[in-house]
Amino acid sequence: MRGVLLFGLFGIVCNLSVFIDAESDWWQNMALYQVYPRSFKDSDGDGVGDIKGIQSKLEHFKDAGINAFWLSPIFTSPMIDFGYDIANFTEIDPIFGTMSDFENLVKAAKKLNIKVILDFVPNHSSTEHEWFKKSVKGEGKYANYYVWREGSVVNGTRVPPNNWVSVFSGPAWTYVEERQAWYLHQFAVQQPDLNFRDPNLVQEMKDAIVFWLDKGVDGFRVDAIPHLFEADGFPNEPLSGETNDPKNYGYTMKHATKDIEESYDMVSQWRKLLDEYALRTDNVTRIMMMEAYCNVTFTMKYYSYGAHFPFNFGFVSNVNGQSTANDIKVKVLDDWLQNVPEDATSNWVIGNHDNSRVATRFGSKRVDAMNMMSLLLPGVSVTYYGEEIGMEDRWMSWEDTKDPQGCGAGEENYASVSRDPVRAPFQWDATVAAGFSTTSNTWLPVHDNYQTLNLAAQKQAEVSHYKVYQALTTLRQEDVAKYGSVDAKVIGGSVLAYTRELIGSEPIVVVANLADETVDVSLDDFSGLPDTLTVYTASVHSSLTAGAKVSKSSFQVSGMAGLVLRSDATTFTSSLVLVCFMILQAYLRH
Ligand code: NOJ
Ligand code: MG
Repeated sequence: MRGVLLFGLFGIVCNLSVFIDAESDWWQNMALYQVYPRSFKDSDGDGVGDIKGIQSKLEHFKDAGINAFWLSPIFTSPMIDFGYDIANFTEIDPIFGTMSDFENLVKAAKKLNIKVILDFVPNHSSTEHEWFKKSVKGEGKYANYYVWREGSVVNGTRVPPNNWVSVFSGPAWTYVEERQAWYLHQFAVQQPDLNFRDPNLVQEMKDAIVFWLDKGVDGFRVDAIPHLFEADGFPNEPLSGETNDPKNYGYTMKHATKDIEESYDMVSQWRKLLDEYALRTDNVTRIMMMEAYCNVTFTMKYYSYGAHFPFNFGFVSNVNGQSTANDIKVKVLDDWLQNVPEDATSNWVIGNHDNSRVATRFGSKRVDAMNMMSLLLPGVSVTYYGEEIGMEDRWMSWEDTKDPQGCGAGEENYASVSRDPVRAPFQWDATVAAGFSTTSNTWLPVHDNYQTLNLAAQKQAEVSHYKVYQALTTLRQEDVAKYGSVDAKVIGGSVLAYTRELIGSEPIVVVANLADETVDVSLDDFSGLPDTLTVYTASVHSSLTAGAKVSKSSFQVSGMAGLVLRSDATTFTSSLVLVCFMILQAYLRH
């Protein structure tokens, strides 16, 4: 009888794996990392990061527990928008190296089982692209590769075709004498919008995708996708009433220039291309992640059109250092989790090259808590380079300003819109230029705090942002972090806590105190947690450290600190065995 019991128990425990739907594909739980190539690592001392530099730091990804990285553009470019203005979609810009440098990088990454993802920028090229030069001349098939309109003349003055505004401010149209027409540019003047209503152009861009797939890349981050198409007929956009300044992007409501149906259709065409590519080669999924700053409906719509996922910018766009625990729960967690389609892969972006750094947006003491949230919610975590060590925005003088968005705003206003502060070189160590380059004359200046805030120091320190980050990427590998349910609650006003639970696994509890002061926390509202919990990892300044035991009903969390708690493993396993035993008994009695 005992033998039967034990056998049955064994069977039940093994069968617990049925609670995990199916093993996820390589990308569905990846820890993803964004490299801004100019600022990551410079191998040749010219002050600009490059591909060989990235390759020399592949070990860092392994060490940090990263599974995949995406590179902001590395293609031929006059660098008006630092690579987002592309003059040739299938060439490497010499500032970053050569095609063989890139091939070597892919090979080396593959050896380490790290996936490589490229930035695909379909909305526009550079005015330096051959296509644009030919289009200006109206040459053959290139004539319609861009969006040209004749506009009109009012009282002797040439006026643009309509009132559309560029994201970087000013009219979205520029007149070209030679062509006697205006071209559309939703971003900088030097970034003419490509015309996706032209079948040759569509094919040309698909060929570019296949070109890089053949080089061995695992997928694409797709830039500015909501801007791909404009409404037929080029209607004026209604005024928003938010500003009287017609140059301000907020001047009009984006009824004609964003979220147009045809953009979604193009996404599904690309998905088909990726899937077919995988089918005819190695059956390994190639992914597509959409950069789409839009409302939740338009965001989620990308899933149904074949995107592996649209970026979830909730932490970036909906909250900041002033936000309450309830704000984060409602505007980030609920907003996403209650709207994401069932079975779709979620993701959590906390920073990127277009937005202030986590330490600056939320306060440096909140860095670990933010990393805890982004890395321990279901799906993909997205880390911008430097966030694993809590880098801060580097203030830039007007003279040092390079970003077209900053330059376009002028000396008075550049500071509020320039993206340079988040693009300063990675702080590797305390040597010259923070170990980023051999020259101290780097393309953007290094942050003054690099002597103390750097990776080498954080690797040495017993407690550091980096050590917390490593603990988090390690924990992500457990099934409960991959497949566990999420239950989030606001506790006592300032604390956001959530559990991740999966039958057969030790739960994970994340507790973040958003307030400045220490608070007393009880987790009694969560049912099923054991009386005593163990700190798995804690913010660097937290009064509790890894290994400490806390009582579920009352423990203190320092201001702005985050904690990751686990149940005591032995208690948990014995209660699990007990449950299995009871199920088995009931089954035998039946
Ligand atoms: C979004 C990119 O993230 C940003 O850096 C760039 O300026 C615009 N798209 C235009 O490509
Ligand atoms: Mg270089």
